[in-house]
Amino acid sequence: MIDKSARMYIAGHRGLVGSAIWRRLEADGYSDLIGRTSRELDLRDREAVFTFFRAEHPQQVVHAAAKVGGILALRGWAWSWASGPGSEGLVALG
Ligand SMILES: NC(=O)c1ccc[n+]([C@@H]2O[C@H](COP(=O)([O-])OP(=O)(O)OC[C@H]3O[C@@H](n4cnc5c(N)ncnc54)[C@H](OP(=O)(O)O)[C@@H]3O)[C@@H](O)[C@H]2O)c1
Repeated sequence: MIDKSARMYIAGHRGLVGSAIWRRLEADGYSDLIGRTSRELDLRDREAVFTFFRAEHPQQVVHAAAKVGGILALRGWAWSWASGPGSEGLVALG
């Protein structure tokens, strides 16, 4: 059972899945939800992710951030993700 006052970071909180999770958690009484747009926090930026976690101390993380767009779109994305800034230490938040 998760404490309803626990600070929860919902990655991808503006997306289809993340926004639904956010609404559900809010409706269930979780009171300390935090989200960041990809402009505010690019999850491919390893140092920015560590800085965010050190500053905000989320106790729970829901990872619903992703680049979505079908197989052809993802073929190009997979390379940019794997070769982008910070990819040497990609952080898996799920
Ligand atoms: N939709 C479905 O029916 C469904 C079903 C099962 C599983 N899934 C999976 O759930 C995940 C999310 O899907 P979705 O449909 O919710 O996608 P979506 O609506 O396109 O939302 C993607 C979210 O990811 C964020 N994001 C993308 N790149 C980011 C980055 N570099 N740094 C930080 N945030 C980033 C976006 O943030 P911004 O808006 O701020 O850019 C947005 O909030 C995917 O893995 C998908 O395969 C989806």
